[in-house]
Amino acid sequence: MCNNNAMKKYTIFVSLLAIVPLCFVSKAYGQLSPGFYDNTCPNVQAIVRSTVINVIVQDPRMAASLLRLHFLDCFVQGCDASLLLDSSGSIISEKGSKANKNSARGFEVIDKIKDQVETICPGVVSCADILAIAARDSTSSLGGPSWLVNLGRRDSLEASLSGSNDNIPDPNTTFETVLSKFTSQGLDMVDLVALSGAHTIGKARCSSFRQRLYNQNGDGKPDATLDPLYGAGLRIQCPRSGGDQNLVNLDPVTPIQFDNFYYRNLVRSRGLLNSDQTLFTNQASWKLVEQYAGNKELFFDQFVISMVKMGKLFPLTGSDGEIRRNCRRVNK
Ligand code: HEM
Repeated sequence: MCNNNAMKKYTIFVSLLAIVPLCFVSKAYGQLSPGFYDNTCPNVQAIVRSTVINVIVQDPRMAASLLRLHFLDCFVQGCDASLLLDSSGSIISEKGSKANKNSARGFEVIDKIKDQVETICPGVVSCADILAIAARDSTSSLGGPSWLVNLGRRDSLEASLSGSNDNIPDPNTTFETVLSKFTSQGLDMVDLVALSGAHTIGKARCSSFRQRLYNQNGDGKPDATLDPLYGAGLRIQCPRSGGDQNLVNLDPVTPIQFDNFYYRNLVRSRGLLNSDQTLFTNQASWKLVEQYAGNKELFFDQFVISMVKMGKLFPLTGSDGEIRRNCRRVNK
């Protein structure tokens, strides 16, 4: 039988065991919160939103481009705006990586937002947070869900070109490889399937999916998992050679509407990228695709959960990093 003292010590020990992992969790995710700028820059969300909406009215694709920027940022050193740095001094920009070169766009929109935010609250709001808010507003502007964005990220002092080359999944690798790029970030298969739903908007260049049209397995034949009629239309837009930069809608049905047509297309073998279609051909993930294809709300709910999760990847907080004055370069 234990006496009272031993019991007390045991209780304290067990309580400490419960608290210690929590400390690690809060360190890993930082202290982000939706109200982070409530006192220091209460209008920041209104500024981002109005600029995003103005830009999207002129160029609806920009919603897709801004949403993608947040992903391209978060997968390299975490959501720290490393993506936005131009090359200078010892910094080699991530903008030249395989995934980003001649592809990532929207940097001047982020500059514009940052300039406006700096005018009203200088040195307060990070570029990483602007990317996160712009991604949310881009999604909701085209009819997608909205959510509370956690804020308080700080900006990195460095970029990682190799990180960008290694961590951003290539559309022409296997399902397992794409999934491994997600799991190494702490995201899982459900996140992979839900976040890929971002391809319900935006465009891809012919160079990103040409092999599916002409020579999927090196045998001179198109990808057997591609709907023949859809494939024939794609071959008109993307000739066998040349036209690398020609743009094709990722969602052929509702390209500027954030909805669940991405999944409905996959079920009909009309995914544009290899990495899209494999979500339906793979045994592990096809069920989720079918569920999201049949239920837009289910997709929206999971998209929000996964976006919030992605937005928490390894943020710099406290006194780490800095609040850049210009998103393209570190402060002097
Ligand atoms: C699952 C792994 C992913 C792969 C392999 C992938 C690959 C690609 C590729 C190849 C393009 C076209 C680029 C070009 O040809 O210029 C693209 C576009 C796009 N991606 Fe992804 N992506 C993935 C995940 C994501 C995620 C997680 C998001 C956001 C949550 C996202 C959002 C977008 C958007 C919105 C576009 C269109 C951009 C525009 O029109 O400017 N992607 N992606």
